[in-house]
Amino acid sequence: MKILKYFIVFVVLFSSLISRADEGMWIPLLLEKYNFADMQKKGFKLTAEDVYSINKASLKDAIVIFGRGCTGELISDEGLIITNHHCGYGQIQKHSTVEKDYLTDGFWAMSRKDELSNPGLTVQFLVRMEDVTVKTLEGVTNEMDEAARAAMIRQNASVISKAVTEGTHYKALIRPFYYGNQYYMFVYEEFRDVRLVGAPPSSIGKFGGDTDNWMWPRHTGDFSLFRIYADKDNKPADYSLDNVPYKPKKSLAISLKGVKKGDFTMVFGYPGRTQQFLTSHAVELISQVENPHMIAIRRIILDIMGEDMDASDKVRIQYSSKYAGIANYWKKWLGENKGLQKLNAIQKKRALELKFREWALSSNERKIKYGNLLEDFDKIYKEITPYSLAKDYIFEAFFGIDINDYIKDIDNLLGAEKPPTEAELATSLEKLKIVTTNFFKDYNLSTDKKIFIAMLKSYRENAGAEFQPEVLKIIDKKFKGSIEKFADHIYSKSVFVDEKKALEFLSDYNASKRKKLMKDPMLEMYRSFMDVYEYISLKSSGMNVRLDKLYRDYVAGLMEFQKDKIFYPDANFTMRITYGQVNDYEPMDGVFYNYFTSLDGIIAKDDPAIYDYKVPAKLKELFQRKDYGRYAENGTMKVAFIGSNHTTGGNSGSPVLNANGELVGINFDRNWEGTMSDIMYDPNQCRNITLDIRYALFIIDKFAGAGHLLNEMKIVE
Ligand code: ARG
Ligand code: GLU
Repeated sequence: MKILKYFIVFVVLFSSLISRADEGMWIPLLLEKYNFADMQKKGFKLTAEDVYSINKASLKDAIVIFGRGCTGELISDEGLIITNHHCGYGQIQKHSTVEKDYLTDGFWAMSRKDELSNPGLTVQFLVRMEDVTVKTLEGVTNEMDEAARAAMIRQNASVISKAVTEGTHYKALIRPFYYGNQYYMFVYEEFRDVRLVGAPPSSIGKFGGDTDNWMWPRHTGDFSLFRIYADKDNKPADYSLDNVPYKPKKSLAISLKGVKKGDFTMVFGYPGRTQQFLTSHAVELISQVENPHMIAIRRIILDIMGEDMDASDKVRIQYSSKYAGIANYWKKWLGENKGLQKLNAIQKKRALELKFREWALSSNERKIKYGNLLEDFDKIYKEITPYSLAKDYIFEAFFGIDINDYIKDIDNLLGAEKPPTEAELATSLEKLKIVTTNFFKDYNLSTDKKIFIAMLKSYRENAGAEFQPEVLKIIDKKFKGSIEKFADHIYSKSVFVDEKKALEFLSDYNASKRKKLMKDPMLEMYRSFMDVYEYISLKSSGMNVRLDKLYRDYVAGLMEFQKDKIFYPDANFTMRITYGQVNDYEPMDGVFYNYFTSLDGIIAKDDPAIYDYKVPAKLKELFQRKDYGRYAENGTMKVAFIGSNHTTGGNSGSPVLNANGELVGINFDRNWEGTMSDIMYDPNQCRNITLDIRYALFIIDKFAGAGHLLNEMKIVE
């Protein structure tokens, strides 16, 4: 009896050492070293070399950075990629008009000729990565101040990246890991001709809309298809009719077998940002100051936009992409705050910090290195709080006013004190004309003006006395404090709120008109806020430098303190692997959430009166007839599933792979209860949400009649 008891204790202890929770976003290059054994134990059947290799085609070669913040993957040897609908949303929106409303109706290229080009859209392949810590820190000493250190690192990094990219069309990026305790280099190949191939209607690709966003159970068919084009030599090229579909080194096989609870899954992609090492002070600042303010600001903007979108189809199309973007993090922060509170995150951080401090103070050597860290954090977070909040008001409230995005370009290209040469001016004006047309396609003056009024008020009330721009004082003097009157003035006098006037102004602009330019009330207002932003940056830059150094020391200290723990580096939009299992969860006492959803659930949600829940007639017909082809599982058309893979923003569109490395789904979201995982992960509550690849294929084949696209895929039945 006794022996058995000891045995059990031993097994539990031992297995908790080797089988870690599913938290972690791991570096593909280090898979063999840190994760492989654990992955195999959980069922993974490939080798580490199959996942990441520079000697042969590996899974990493099928994965791309899609646009500026998503992941995509190759699913054919003819350059076809799949990503989320919400990742392609901007492109789909740009091609949409009231007459050709691809957002509402979907878009399917029935032949290669019909595929639509997307100026500005790129995809990037990772050619290779390398630990360059030693080379990057060469010549850096402990005695150096932070500015000298940063300059040295910058210089080293530029030498290293130049050497590896010389004579190639690659670009190299060197990024800090663990707050500058390590450095990695990433070499990328970027393709510039990426065409839209297919997108379901929003009633499928965005089904559930913002109502269901960040939530489980979920029924969104969140995918879209693009194709990479290259020149005749398979090299990146600008858009041209002569370009041909890109031949990738590797594309993913697609499995029709589906997943069940407990199955191994891995997500391979580009997670954007996590902050697991934040101290309790930072979590307090985020959850109690920044998030509540940013949530409030975005709510106001959303209400104004929403009302105008409901009233006009034109405005709906113009603002749908902006609205979705703003709504997304509005909701994320709400969930994050709830989750942090439920997890007692601040208390947990404090407890760790206490133990760390005790450890640090218990040796002389450590006392010197780490003894004051936590007091210093405390001091600096108190100092920095008002500046952080003011900065949030600049980015969220001030730049929440659409026109400022445009004025930013005007100011950047024409505002410089130093007069441009004639040639420079000509180039700037050419650029600005394009910017102007693009901007006004999605601009509605009266919506913008309402937001302007609301945001200036909010700024005046909340950003703090120290951060009030000159222009608000003028409003007090000239307009008796009325922001409405000021808005009337500025929106009638500025040439930059109207496409025609702006283009006219730009087309006969020359150096002699500079005075007039600088007097434009919108530009004046913009610059007045930018003065404040400069002031904030100036005042807080020293604090940020100190903070960076504190975190660098703290993380080094934590790693020394918890010697046996394998720390994964925070996400920083570099390629990572995360793995876990398909799994259900209990969001609250008495409630159980199953691990998958199905078309039955879509039909159950159907409600023609609610925009987010309108099910297309064709989909209902397919459901009635159970016309699921080979995509169903025992008569059920599965739609989405969840698992314990640790993911974050940027992982959208990432492939979810099974134990054989076959594509079983597309990652597209996290659950509401798990959104705090960017700061603190909870294995019981954190789930990633995956679109079942079979639902995507079913939509392409049965719903859209674009089955020809399946011919180029490798489908494993
Ligand atoms: N929450 C997901 C992500 O962070 C999906 C966003 C799609 N946008 C939306 N507003 N529904 O990107
Ligand atoms: N939808 C997110 C994205 O765009 C992924 C969800 C998350 O933050 O985990 O990357």
